[in-house]
Amino acid sequence: MPPRCLRCAPVATKWTANIKRTALHGAHHEMDDRFNTMAGWALFAGIVALGGTIVSGEYFRHHEVEKGGYEVADASPEAGGAASAKPTDFSAGDPVKGAAVFAKCQSCHSIEAGGANGIGPNLHASMGKPFAHVAGFAYSDALKSKGGNWGWSEMDAWLASPKKYVNGTKMSFAGLSNPEDRANVIRYLNDQGSNLPVPPPPAAEAATADAAATTTAAEAPGKVQTSAVPSPPVADTGNASTPAPAASAK
Ligand code: HEC
Repeated sequence: MPPRCLRCAPVATKWTANIKRTALHGAHHEMDDRFNTMAGWALFAGIVALGGTIVSGEYFRHHEVEKGGYEVADASPEAGGAASAKPTDFSAGDPVKGAAVFAKCQSCHSIEAGGANGIGPNLHASMGKPFAHVAGFAYSDALKSKGGNWGWSEMDAWLASPKKYVNGTKMSFAGLSNPEDRANVIRYLNDQGSNLPVPPPPAAEAATADAAATTTAAEAPGKVQTSAVPSPPVADTGNASTPAPAASAK
């Protein structure tokens, strides 16, 4: 038996009217349902539209701000636009001046060996280490999954604009736009427990057009000398008995 319905009840006088009754019942209830459904969707659409404008407003507002500063440099996202536009000369970097630049980092980073992590990880000997190498520091997924080591050019691109180099990083630092500041602070970082060899000045390659003959001629003997010096001591590092045959060989 179908459930009793007050609006259908007057129609259901005879048991033979059952068919008619159920048909009517279905019709007006269908309309009620449809109306409720429509009202529901209208309300839902309103909520979605309102939420949508709020969310998209937020999204586009942030997006515009982000774009404004970096539009030009976006041409080479991997290498870091600033670095490619004007190569950073690490050989001209001054670690002493870099220590002063590092004052901007100190609110978040310690640098001494075994120093505590702050808002950012301890940076002792970070040059040359893999990205996100400090055990126990809660890095962003973006930096953890980037993959690579803190070489000179990587650190340069990172410090020029952390957010551009690692999209989604937790390091809320705008960046150092001046390449000299970056060269200085990276030389300072390198002196704090890493001591990687400093790359030669980029001008050596770029300036060949200007003064090709003179620079290459002047550099050639210097390179031969420096490469010749380290090899003999390497052969002598065995034990106390080796100097005798080495001396007789000369
Ligand atoms: C407002 C705080 C803050 C400032 C200022 C800041 N950093 Fe950071 N730094 C962080 C945070 C947070 C991370 C971790 C980033 C992540 O997980 O995405 C980080 C990560 C790093 C890393 C990566 C370390 C690793 O183990 O991979 C380096 C290198 C670094 N910062 C250098 C610097 C230098 C140099 C400066 C100053 C020029 C600086 N930071 C300024 C907060 C800061």
